[in-house]
Amino acid sequence: MNVLAMTNVQKKFGARTALDGLDLKLSSGEVFALLGPNGAGKTTTINLILGFLKADVGVVDVCGIDAALEPLRARQHIAYIPEQVALYATMSGLDNLRYFTTLAGLTLDAERSSELLTEAGLTLEAQHRPAQSYSKGMRQKVGIAIAMARSAKLLLLDEPTSGLDPSASAEFSRVVRAAADRGTAVLMATHDLYRIKELADRVGVLHRGRVAEDIDPAALDHVALEQIYMERLST
Ligand SMILES: Nc1ncnc2c1ncn2[C@@H]1O[C@H](COP(=O)(O)OP(=O)(O)OP(=O)(O)O)[C@@H](O)[C@H]1O
Ligand SMILES: [Mg+2]
Repeated sequence: MNVLAMTNVQKKFGARTALDGLDLKLSSGEVFALLGPNGAGKTTTINLILGFLKADVGVVDVCGIDAALEPLRARQHIAYIPEQVALYATMSGLDNLRYFTTLAGLTLDAERSSELLTEAGLTLEAQHRPAQSYSKGMRQKVGIAIAMARSAKLLLLDEPTSGLDPSASAEFSRVVRAAADRGTAVLMATHDLYRIKELADRVGVLHRGRVAEDIDPAALDHVALEQIYMERLST
């Protein structure tokens, strides 16, 4: 069964058509990179999957659940990491993780919580510091640890590596790859052609409200990837 199945999804904002018959399917363990210029509809696609927006036409299915009809049930299978992960500033990373997982109905002891944060790449020293002292990359690591604790089947990432330094970005890729290897399906909206090459199993370009998927990231270097991306947008 597909973890995510979007079928003929159309979404307009007033007279502006954001999505125009988008089809997108994802299975367990796949990393899909969604490329597209500013305003192409990447965030709109994510908001439809989360049930924050409803499609005008078409179906968004998450693990067999219609995301428009039963958004809460669908969201139980989803972990979402926005560009800026919001944490409680005065609480430590560890306490943030325990707080958010408790809200999700999980009981994690301190040892397991710390283990998850370590796996996400947050040092022990940082885990005990107030989150207000965290960089963007560190906040994302807490976001990833929360996602892993919830064993979400679908991980949604909106421009996860923008603003990260190269080593933080590489570490982020490693953690996402590990999640995929454990069976999580990953949808990543991104402008980061360099990361796609090493991380994505599949690449689609969102253009004119649809996904064109004819790029094999494994077969290309990032210069060739950029060239194809540009060609796609000029059609
Ligand atoms: N709530 C909204 N109301 C009106 N128009 C919207 C709304 N959300 C998105 N749009 C429009 O839909 C289109 C797609 O926007 P979206 O934010 O999904 O693009 P994006 O691919 O995420 O862009 P970026 O790379 O800049 O993040 C744009 O034309 C945008 O102006
Ligand atoms: Mg966006």
